[in-house]
Amino acid sequence: MSASSPTRLSAEKEGEQPSKSSSTFSTDLSVLPDSNDAYLRQEYWEERYKKESNETHFDWCLRPDILLPLMRELIPSKDSRILMLGCGNSLLSEVMYDEGWTQIVNVDYSSALIEQMKEKHSVLRPSMTWHQMDIRELSFEDGSFDVALDKATMDTMMQEKGDPWSPSEKVQADCNAEVSEVLRVLRPLPTSKFLYYTWGQPHFRKRYLTREGWDLRTREIGPPGSFGYYQYVLSPKQEDQLMP
Ligand SMILES: C[S@@+](CC[C@H](N)C(=O)[O-])C[C@H]1O[C@@H](n2cnc3c(N)ncnc32)[C@H](O)[C@@H]1O
Repeated sequence: MSASSPTRLSAEKEGEQPSKSSSTFSTDLSVLPDSNDAYLRQEYWEERYKKESNETHFDWCLRPDILLPLMRELIPSKDSRILMLGCGNSLLSEVMYDEGWTQIVNVDYSSALIEQMKEKHSVLRPSMTWHQMDIRELSFEDGSFDVALDKATMDTMMQEKGDPWSPSEKVQADCNAEVSEVLRVLRPLPTSKFLYYTWGQPHFRKRYLTREGWDLRTREIGPPGSFGYYQYVLSPKQEDQLMP
């Protein structure tokens, strides 16, 4: 997806997974763009999802079975209200729902995708909701979520042609807008968290995730034998972490 990522095809193959579901993989090459900078465009995603059925699924970066142990550790309360940013047709939301986190609010800016997901899940998973929305401008109240989760979504806003060491002002503005919106909608509680999963190394991500009053923890999570992925956890600083 960029100079520091695998090729677009190998990045997508990274996400292939065996699944309990009867759905098919989204490995049809016809949905791949000619150039990685297409991932920047809403129209690309809209067209891609229009070509796919609501039974298609694809998980970028990390499969739900790899993430579940981390979710159990990081989100101990099953009552947590969770915002899934750029949900795509990943299985993560449904796997988490079936594990007991039933308050999941999914957003993506593709309306075709959101309609498919509503159709697929509204009967089976009624308390999970789906909204067509831009993560740079969320229409949720301040302090209305316990957790926000981004898996590979901010990454798409960085897929410009050019030098990844010097992102354009547009890329910086988009990524900063997402993070600002996320921090706005998280409850001001020590237990609140923004979880971000990506192939992006800390050098390329910390510039967006370093915020006054927020504590950032970074961890390389593998998995073994695969491309190295990272977990970023941003949470409100505790009283004793704040400078006098
Ligand atoms: C790389 S996919 C990741 C999908 C999913 N999170 C996963 O892990 O498989 C990026 C998704 O984010 C959506 N997206 C990209 N930019 C967005 C934005 N500014 N607002 C809302 N959704 C966005 C795309 O439509 C796409 O579904």
